[in-house]
Parts: sequence; C-alpha cells; structure tokens
Amino acid sequence: MLRNLLSPVKIGNLELPNRIAMAPMGVEIVEADGKIREPVLKYYEERARGGAGLLISENTAACYPRGANSAHEIGVSSDDFLPGLTALADRVHAAGSRIAIQLAHHGKVGRLDTQQGRELLMPSMPAKQLRPSGPLDLTLEEMGLMAKAAGSEGKPKIREATAQDLEALVSDFADAAQRAQRAGFDAIEIHGAHGYIFSEFHSPAWNFRTDEYGGPVENRARLLCNVIRACRAVLGEGFSLWARIDAIEFGVENGIVPEDAARTAELLEEAGVDAVHVSAYSDPIGPGFTRGPIVHKPSGFVDYAAIIKQRVNVPVIVSGRIEPEDGDRVIREGRADVISMGRKLLADPELPRKLAEDRPEDIRPCIYCYICVAQPFFDRRVRCAVNALAANEIEDAPRLREKTKSPKRVLVVGGGPAGLEAAGVAAERGHEVVLCEKGAKLGGTLRFAALPYEPNERLLDYLVTRVSKLPIDVRLECEVTPDVVREIAPDIVLAGVGPTRAKSTIEGADLPHVFDGDSLRDLLTGQGDSDAESKLSLTGRLAVRAGRLTGLTDDPATLRKASKAYMPLGKSVAIVGGGLVGCELAEFLVERGREVHVFESESVLAQQMAHPRRWRVLHDLREAGAHLHAESEILEITAGAVRFRGRAQGAAEESVPADSVVIAEGLTGNPEMVAALESAGVPVRVIGDASGVGYIDGAIADGFRAALDLD
Ligand SMILES: Cc1cc2nc3c(=O)[nH]c(=O)nc-3n(C[C@H](O)[C@H](O)[C@H](O)COP(=O)(O)O)c2cc1C
Repeated sequence: MLRNLLSPVKIGNLELPNRIAMAPMGVEIVEADGKIREPVLKYYEERARGGAGLLISENTAACYPRGANSAHEIGVSSDDFLPGLTALADRVHAAGSRIAIQLAHHGKVGRLDTQQGRELLMPSMPAKQLRPSGPLDLTLEEMGLMAKAAGSEGKPKIREATAQDLEALVSDFADAAQRAQRAGFDAIEIHGAHGYIFSEFHSPAWNFRTDEYGGPVENRARLLCNVIRACRAVLGEGFSLWARIDAIEFGVENGIVPEDAARTAELLEEAGVDAVHVSAYSDPIGPGFTRGPIVHKPSGFVDYAAIIKQRVNVPVIVSGRIEPEDGDRVIREGRADVISMGRKLLADPELPRKLAEDRPEDIRPCIYCYICVAQPFFDRRVRCAVNALAANEIEDAPRLREKTKSPKRVLVVGGGPAGLEAAGVAAERGHEVVLCEKGAKLGGTLRFAALPYEPNERLLDYLVTRVSKLPIDVRLECEVTPDVVREIAPDIVLAGVGPTRAKSTIEGADLPHVFDGDSLRDLLTGQGDSDAESKLSLTGRLAVRAGRLTGLTDDPATLRKASKAYMPLGKSVAIVGGGLVGCELAEFLVERGREVHVFESESVLAQQMAHPRRWRVLHDLREAGAHLHAESEILEITAGAVRFRGRAQGAAEESVPADSVVIAEGLTGNPEMVAALESAGVPVRVIGDASGVGYIDGAIADGFRAALDLD
C-alpha cells in the first residue's frame, strides 16, 4: 500500500484526501465556442469518480477568445461561460472530488489569435525564428494539419506587450479567477509554464525587455506575481491559489534555469500562492517536446521540484511520468508534496481508487505512446491508445457500465490486444465469452512488441490479468477451424486473428541470415512454428533452446535482460522497413551494441508513431549512431551486405555490411483466415490487425467497439 501517496494533505485551506492530482490536460472536447456541455462534464465526472484527491482542469482561456490555443478551449472571460463552469464544479463535487481551474493565456502559442486575425501577445519581438531547427520528421499531412490549426500558412503577427496590455491582462485574470470561484471551483491554478505568456516573460530567451518586466528574475517574474496578487485580492485569503511554473527550459539557449525557477517560487510565495506546481519546457517542435513538458524520462522533473521545495514553505506539486511507487517515495523523501498525473489518468481514471483498494494489477497502464498529446497539435480531440473510452465518455460510458440485457455467446478468436480487449469488455458486460488463442500464451503481437518497449509489457500484463479474473473460457493452443466454430456454437465470432506477412520479393530475402518479424519473434519468444531455428549457428540453436527449456523466453522482461548477453543476430544488422516496428527494433538493437541501418521507402520514418514519440525515437537513434536511410530502395541482400539506392533522381547505388537482415515490413490483413471462419455460417466481425494493420491503438479501439456493439 502506498501510504504516503494516499495520505491527506492541505493546499492552503483546501483539504485533499490523497496526494494524487490529475494534471491539467487540454483534451479539446469542448465545442468551438468555449462553452462546457455534457461531453466535457462526463469526461471530468469519470475522473472524479476515479478517486484522485484533486482534479486540475485543462487549460482554460482567461481572456477567451484572446490568448486561446484553440477555439476548443474552455472560456472563462464572461458570465456567458458561467453556467457551464458551474455545472462542471458541481459535477466533480457530486462525484466525490475537488477541482481547480487552470487559467491560461497562450502568448506566442495562442493559435486562435492567429486564426482570428489578432496579433500574438509576447514580451518582446522574438530574436529567433519561431521555427525549429534540425530534421522535422513530420509528414506533409501532419505539417498541413498543424499549419491549419495554427491558422497561418504564413508568418504569425506578433505584438510586443505594452504596459497597458499587461495591466489589462492582470485584470482579466483576476476577473476570471473570481468567476471560477463563483462557479464553485475549489482552487485556481495560474498557468505560468510551457512557453505561454508568463513563461515567456520568465524566460530570458524570449524576454528582452528593458522595463520593469525584463532583466533580473525579479522583473521577469513580476507579471505572474502581479496576477497572483490581483487574484488574491479578489479571491480573499482563505481561497486556494497557486501557479504552475517551468523549472527549466531544456536545451533552450539562455532559457529558464532551475535557480531562476526557485527564486520565482520564492517570489510567488511572497505574492500569496498556496502551492507551486512544477513542470518544465523545451522547444515544442522536435525531440525537446518529450523532455518537457510531456517528458519521456520517468520522474523527469522530480529533481527540480526538490530544489524548489527547499526554497518555499508551501506544498510543491510535481508532474512528469511519475509511477505511483515513485510518487510515494518522492513524498516520503520530502522532495514534493503532491504528485500530478496526466497521461496515466487518461489511460485509467480509476488509478487512485485501485491503488487505495490495493489492486495495482487492475490499473490500465499508459504506454507513453504520445497519441493523446499528438491530437491537440492538429486541433483535434484527445484520444488514448489503451483506453478507448477516454474523451468518448458521453457516448460509451453508459453502455460500458450497463450489463447487457441480451447476453450472447461470443467466440473471440485470437488472444492479441484486440481479442483481449474485446473479451474483457464483452465479459464485463455479461456476455458469455470463449477466447481461443493458437499459441501457448496470450498476447499475440503485443507479446513481441513488449520485448523492445517495456511499457507494452505492462499493457500485456494488464490485459491478460483482466481476462484471467473474468469468467472467460480461455483455450490456449486452440487453432480455430470452421469445425471448432460449429462445435463452440457462438452467436458471433470476433476475429482478432492478427495480420499476415506477404513474402518479401527482395532478391536475397531467402538467405539464411535474413529474418522476418515472425521468425525473429519465434526465435526470441519460443512461440510460433516457423523454421527460424534452422537459420542459427549451433551455438545459437543451443542458446535459444536453453532459453526455452529454462523458461527464460517466457517473459519479456527476462528476455530483454538476457538479450543483452546473447541475441541471435550479428554485429551489424540491416532493418528493412523503418515503420513503427522497424524503429522500435532498431532502438532495441542499438541498446544491445549492434551497428544498425534502417531502410525506409517513405521520406519520414516511424510514421505510425504519434509524432512526438517519433521525434524522440528518431532523435535517440541518430544520437546513438544508427543509420537511418529514408526514401531508399533495397536492390539486393547478399551474404554479408545490403545493396540499396536513394530514391532521389540520379542517386548512386550504395552498399552497407550486414551480418543479419530483418525484414520489418509487408504486414497486411488476414482475409483468408477470416473467410475460413465465415464459412462456419456464424456472423464474423473482424477486429485488430486482421482487418488492416492498426497497431495497439487500432486493436484496442476495435476490440472495445466490437464488444460494445454486441447488443
Ligand atoms: C493531452 C495532454 C494535454 C495537456 N494539456 C496541458 C494543459 O492544458 N495545461 C498544462 O499545464 N499541461 C498540460 N499537459 C501536460 C500535463 O499536465 C503533464 O504535465 C504532462 O503530461 C506530464 O505528466 P504525465 O507524465 O503524468 O502525463 C498536457 C498533457 C497531455 C498529455
């Protein structure tokens, strides 16, 4: 039991029953007029029911539409917004939690200003271009969507804030804070982080002013402190108020440094905050985004929070990929007081309650795939790869909760992510489920995906555990033929039979040192029935057999460790296909000391990864010395080498050494298997990769939907 994390705490006068706060997340469920309606209420209700001590709302626009990041941002700038805001506070209270509102002005990222022809408010005219350097790693479609969301294919117009602008801003924030208080919110958080207006004033990389708002940190923090004082004046002494700040701007020349942030925290305390919420920032386009604010490094901001904690007497809230056990330790060690969790509560809003009930194995884990936060870049509603309900609560929560009135006998074919999700949801809703898996273990392609990427293993464990706790008839090593379907006699078949792999037509693809995804999986996991073992040397065969005999190949974690000592692949490896699978495999191999070349015919690698994760993975691969060949065509695989040519006109033929070659492309749907199942005369619904490759998010969404649609 995580006693520290689950212990009560006070922020000002606000008493929280535990120290888990939902971090603010702009989910863009609100309609384009900034007004809260039922879909938003349901989203928050779900999270309030989940047991978090506090919810911090998504960023809301204190001066809506001015300074808003999107038309889909909640407005707080007039009493027109009051009914929705009041309904939100009421709904969260009725569901048993508390809610702080996060008030924001997006400054240079105020996309709605550009969309509606206003100037972007900034402390100074920027010294650098508002464009990233380095490879973009974005597809043309993504760039188009981002430009559209930004409202400008051309250059945004910028306004250097005048003293009057700043006075008006302070007054607008005080007004919005008072309105939120009237609406029944329990606290106010001023968004002073993430490159928005207050963070720009804070940062010497953006603030070149020579007046009282520029220069030393005391001046750079003045605007935010003025806002706090003005809010305090209207809210009164007993009402909880705090600010979120950047502890550091990673990799930004002349950016915010931790000492600045600590001093700012002291100044904020003097100005009257009841807490400081610590985050961090970087360049928002490119790999910096996954350093801050949406950090990929576990507990990535805790060290900075600890510095600030030493300098203030008010509670410190910290976010940033903090696992519950780590959060518990951070609190025990006195490095922060409250842990704010974002992505994890999208994935499973009931995480706090499950922890309190000592059921951590029932928590649906975030896999840090960045699909959620990729959506707002395109001005789209958030979605979650592992939780298809997230941001769809209005449509699906009632159906999910209600037991079916017409139970069906459901045969789920395939124990991969689509099948596991479908079986789980169907059984939870009261259907009678038989789950058949042809392999000896559940997991399907997810079992292999868990090998290079550890968070996938947590998802695998969660899905398998959930199925094992439900009254599901699980049949392993069960190959489903039409006869088996007839014998089981279901009302419907949900076919999650996985993809098939087209045989590679590359010359040399049949050489002994060439593996495809299936043969590599069979070797590493001891699953499947390919003749991959015959491709190994005697030592290799012995090692792989020993692995199977000792059970070493049973679980991905052990395998990950063991593969650092032995892998059935040579020193230099060529990966043909630089999609999600190829790039994850490349990361895995680079970590195991292999010289890796990745060949991709498209101009952007890892297109199936959400672009923030793609930025991180491709950056790390380049840093680690992997050779990424975009727009390349393989001409031939020979013993010990791969011949290829760039797609650009006149590109010369090249050759790189390759002791082993892995073909990580060519997956397609599985129409033959589906047709075979259909021949049994029972309705069949295809889910997951069998209908076309959709990866984890596609599989989970398909399985979920199919199970909901059973009645
Ligand atoms: C989809 C999404 C939207 C976010 N929107 C906001 C926001 O509106 N305001 C804010 O301060 N932080 C925002 N963040 C950052 C989170 O509050 C949090 O700091 C970050 O996700 C790291 O915490 P985590 O690892 O627990 O997700 C957002 C994060 C995500 C994933």
